[in-house]
Amino acid sequence: AIDPEFEETYTETERHEEHRIWTPDGEEPSEEMQGIHGTHVAVDFDICIADGACLEDCPVDVFEWVDTPGHPESEIKADPTYEDQCIDCMLCVDVCPVDAIDVDPS
Ligand code: SF4
Ligand code: F3S
Ligand code: ZN
Repeated sequence: AIDPEFEETYTETERHEEHRIWTPDGEEPSEEMQGIHGTHVAVDFDICIADGACLEDCPVDVFEWVDTPGHPESEIKADPTYEDQCIDCMLCVDVCPVDAIDVDPS
C-alpha cells in the first residue's frame, strides 16, 4: 500500500504537469521506478495496476491516464492531474484494489 507518511519518508524530486513527484531516497524517477504523483491526492505509480476504478468512480474527474511504458506493474497509470478539484469523498481510496491512493483532506 502507499505510505501515508510519504511527505516525510519520500523526497520531492520533480514536477509532472502541475503536481509533484515524490521518490524514496530522492532518487530520480525512471521507467521501473515512477514514484508517487500528487500530494493532496497521491497515487503510488509503483503500486498502481491500472485497475481504473478510481477514474470511473471519482465524481469530479481528478484522474487521467498517463503512459508509463516499461513499468512492471502496468503501462498506464491514474494520474491525479486535477487534484485541486478533489472534494475528499474518499471513494478512490476505498475502491482501489491495491491501495495505491492516499487522500489527505487537511
Ligand atoms: Fe475524487 Fe473523491 Fe478521490 Fe478526491 S477523494 S480524488 S473527489 S474520488
Ligand atoms: Fe491504479 Fe488503483 Fe486507480 S490500481 S488505476 S490507482 S483504482
Ligand atoms: Zn503525474
